[in-house]
Amino acid sequence: MRLLIIGAPGAGKGTQAALIKEYFAIPHISTGEMFREAISQQTEIGLEAKKYIDKGDLVPDSVTIELMRERLLKDDCKKGFLLDGFPRTIAQAQALDEMLEKLEIKLDAVLNVDIDDKILIDRIVGRRTCSVCKENYHITNKKPKVEGICDVCGGKLIQRADDTEETIKNRLRVYHQLTKPVLDYYAKQGLIKTISGRENIEEIFMKVKHLLGGNE
Ligand code: AP5
Ligand code: MG
Repeated sequence: MRLLIIGAPGAGKGTQAALIKEYFAIPHISTGEMFREAISQQTEIGLEAKKYIDKGDLVPDSVTIELMRERLLKDDCKKGFLLDGFPRTIAQAQALDEMLEKLEIKLDAVLNVDIDDKILIDRIVGRRTCSVCKENYHITNKKPKVEGICDVCGGKLIQRADDTEETIKNRLRVYHQLTKPVLDYYAKQGLIKTISGRENIEEIFMKVKHLLGGNE
């Protein structure tokens, strides 16, 4: 299964991606997560990406495309993949098409998580992430069993550096301006499968499985 998941910041891409990854046994590849890892390791790419991420802007296409080109060549992608947060511009979508053509593979579907901007701010401000295993929580919608501690690995829960209200507003602006057109790009290829991101996490995942032809 070769999938993309597209949606505004806070739409629930990472949350659904974690479930899809388990269910279909495919790697979950998040460019945001790759950049955050590079930032914590203080690599050259990380230092460059931080300048943009902290403001809620996109990291330049040249950097992001190269990162994905290398990632898709790794062995684990041979069994399929789920790309979360890539492509985010038409140039990235075109570059991905070229990469896939060279690898002689095609996408099966593009999941579009559709949701109102109003709900997103609360979701992002309330998000907490495990500093160790990156598991996602929410202060009211998906509480950990013990406040501040990850259920899965016992790691400390933290807030992401780009989850401030000011940055979120810019991330939403950027999404509408640069990433929404990517949905039209894939609609023309007949690949879009839209799901409402408003329902609860389990209901959305049931629909995802149904749309992708999995057993309930
Ligand atoms: P990235 O890490 O991709 O962030 P994003 O797109 O802003 O999306 P988020 O991760 O914030 O939200 P999500 O949709 O994953 O929601 P989640 O599941 O966590 O990118 C970060 C930055 O990196 C970008 O701004 C950019 O600078 C850079 N970047 C990344 N990719 C790039 C690219 N291709 N090109 C250029 N730059 C790039 O859910 C949010 C919260 O809501 C959680 O707390 C969760 O528990 C809760 N929740 C989830 N689903 C539900 C539900 N159904 N009901 C109630 N609560 C829910
Ligand atoms: Mg995410």
